[in-house]
Amino acid sequence: MFTNLNPISCDVLVIGAGLAGLSAAAEAARAGKKTIVVSKNHPLKSHSAAAAGGINAAMTPEDAVLHCEETITAGCGLCDRQAVEILCNSAADILGKFRKYGTPFRLNENGEPEGRPFGAMSTPRTRFVGDYTGAALMQTAFEQAEKAGVRFEYDVFLTDLIKDGSRIAGACGIRFRSGTAELFSAGAVILATGGAGALFAVNSNGIGSTGDGCAMALRAGLPLKNWELVQFHPTGLYPSGLLISEAARGEGAVLRNKEMEAFMPRYHEKGDLAPRDAVTRAILTEIKCGRGFGRRGDFVLLDCRALSPERLTERLPEICDLTETMLHIHPSTHLIPVLPTAHYFMGGVPTDTEGHVLDAIGFAVPGLFAAGECSWTGVHGANRVGGNSLLEATVFGRRAGKAAAAETVPASPDPNEALRTLNGRLEPPASASEAEETGKIPSPLECRRELKEILSTSCGAVHTTIRHKQGATRLSLLERRFRKYRFRLPPERACNTELKDWLETDNLLLLGAALLTAAEERSESAGAFYREDQIYAGGSLYHTLTEYRKGRFSAERRPL
Ligand code: FUM
Repeated sequence: MFTNLNPISCDVLVIGAGLAGLSAAAEAARAGKKTIVVSKNHPLKSHSAAAAGGINAAMTPEDAVLHCEETITAGCGLCDRQAVEILCNSAADILGKFRKYGTPFRLNENGEPEGRPFGAMSTPRTRFVGDYTGAALMQTAFEQAEKAGVRFEYDVFLTDLIKDGSRIAGACGIRFRSGTAELFSAGAVILATGGAGALFAVNSNGIGSTGDGCAMALRAGLPLKNWELVQFHPTGLYPSGLLISEAARGEGAVLRNKEMEAFMPRYHEKGDLAPRDAVTRAILTEIKCGRGFGRRGDFVLLDCRALSPERLTERLPEICDLTETMLHIHPSTHLIPVLPTAHYFMGGVPTDTEGHVLDAIGFAVPGLFAAGECSWTGVHGANRVGGNSLLEATVFGRRAGKAAAAETVPASPDPNEALRTLNGRLEPPASASEAEETGKIPSPLECRRELKEILSTSCGAVHTTIRHKQGATRLSLLERRFRKYRFRLPPERACNTELKDWLETDNLLLLGAALLTAAEERSESAGAFYREDQIYAGGSLYHTLTEYRKGRFSAERRPL
């Protein structure tokens, strides 16, 4: 157990170093606030880099209106119009800023950023840097944050929010390399920790996408909104699920089944560029009807052969690299095996359009902000449009950074409370002998594997109540077994990977249970959430930790 904490203080603490975190931090630092970004990994390894195909930006007011309407239509009635309007109307300005700071967008003959078509949209407004747009934007955002004077603390795993009275006043956690306990006190805290793709066996996410900020919010008594709305990207590389960007279909690639039929036009008028939920379900239907490829018939093929080798190298270099490295094939001559992959959480910690986190009754939580995938801003509804995530991270990250900087107050969280909280997380709840007796106690990594299997079979792209119930039962048994696990803290605790795995797995178990509870509560299909046994109810869902823990489904259902 820890006996002391290393205190560090700042005005604005940003937890998470993806595009939303960096955008928020740069904004807060530019406002003259002492700003620290804390992350588990180096910022440039953040998952934002995986949003490959582009960032949506309408260049005319007319196209911004269209962008707004198409985002709302794809969101299937669960978008917040005001938030979507802010998103779409800010895009041209954001794009201009990235260009000014040096992001090398592909330009057309007029010297303007070229747009490529993306799913669910009627004009080519996805601006891009090859098929590594997220990585290019991250590079620029990182440089800008450094230039603004942001301090970076990576290899630090923050586990819990700490209060000063009713105000969120910092967070505590562990510095991985030294194994020391840390307390960051802050006048305002911004959660920007991304999604929880690690809940699924096949996912496109970085390994660190374990939903830590959402778990922190739940433990602090705050709700998640629409947490059950998980987007499956249609084209993950088979079998790992690594992203094959939608940019491929934007450039003209088509999906084919076992009979080499380009099947998408049978399912949707937009064909291969239908909204992601429609393409995902079409692929699953082809597989279910026996038209999938492979020994198990569990994937389809992406055909890029209509694109010349030069065009592929120029516009989709990452896809060429990935398929050459993983499969030793080149997309100009070979078809790519793909299957739907868990990609994005459209729900999260509810916020208003300035990034203030809202509690279960809709009041702003003093001192706490959120941005990016861990937050619910209302821009994605039940089905995110590809190319809108980088835009959301930047637009709402900046707004959260600005608001947080304006609202910092001197903070003095109680170090004893922080110590108690941290030690409480690490306390082994069962004796070692009990652990040895049962012989079935999973290590964190074994637990994670089982958890992924449970979530993938009970809460994937197609839902039924019976699968939710089976999943919830299996998950609660797994959690009970996992609680008996006693990890070994070496005396110096430095570089204790087991401890990090344990903390992440603990978060994933909580978020997996939350997902199953929320999924059962949503009795109707909505966008990416598709029920085979559907009953219409409508509205958005809020759940708090108490509701998840009690396993009852009394979440409040409110109109937007
Ligand atoms: O397919 C893609 O390039 C993903 C982009 C996104 O999710 O926004």
